[in-house]
Amino acid sequence: MLNLVIFGAPGSGKGTQSERLIDRYGLYHISTGELLRDHIARGTELGKIADSYISKGNLIPDELMLQVLEKTLDDNPEETRNGVIFDGFPRTIPQAEALNKMLERHGTKLHSVVGLEVPEDELVDRLLKRGQESGRTDDNADTIKTRLKVYHRNTEPLRKFYADRNAYHGVNGSGSVDKIFSDISSHIDSLNSAEAKKS
Ligand code: AP5
Ligand code: MG
Repeated sequence: MLNLVIFGAPGSGKGTQSERLIDRYGLYHISTGELLRDHIARGTELGKIADSYISKGNLIPDELMLQVLEKTLDDNPEETRNGVIFDGFPRTIPQAEALNKMLERHGTKLHSVVGLEVPEDELVDRLLKRGQESGRTDDNADTIKTRLKVYHRNTEPLRKFYADRNAYHGVNGSGSVDKIFSDISSHIDSLNSAEAKKS
């Protein structure tokens, strides 16, 4: 079992790399952004609340996000058996602390946080480019600016939080998708062989 957080700013490639990682390692992908967008598309009560935050580029409140995540873990015991890639979660220190407790309750732990490091101007270029066709209400110049500000204020401090716990592994997130995937895979393979030695 391997539980990973794929960490990084908006547009850093979390979703792109997660798609490949789930294929190679048989992990379950939980993207909190995708979960919320699904609720918005279905017009649920949660979707209505989430939309008011997402379309402005703000984070939805921790308590609400934690309820959604806990339910996803509880509803998918089989799918999460090999481990989970958390994409876009945690985004605040309270979320990180809650994740540790949640995994402990499920009899497991977080094995590593993989951070995709991409220069700010490249993030903006990628998101504006995607905004021309994605239909995402948050892929426009004003909201991208807020998303990056919120990232620096609320989420970036998690790098130190995890580095202090020897759990952060930074990867250069610029360049080809294949090269980035290969760097992340080398890290996961070394984690897997360290786990295998322990058991
Ligand atoms: P979320 O959906 O998580 O969005 P995000 O973090 O802003 O990031 P993106 O999904 O836009 O980017 P990504 O890192 O996945 O990159 P991608 O692979 O798509 O969250 C959306 C909102 O939901 C938040 O703002 C918040 O409101 C709410 N929310 C979510 N989680 C929350 C939480 N835990 N707490 C509270 N609120 C929460 O790639 C981006 C683009 O770049 C794509 O077009 C891709 O093709 C391209 N690309 C990828 N890799 C490369 C590469 N190597 N070279 C060139 N282009 C590349
Ligand atoms: Mg994403």
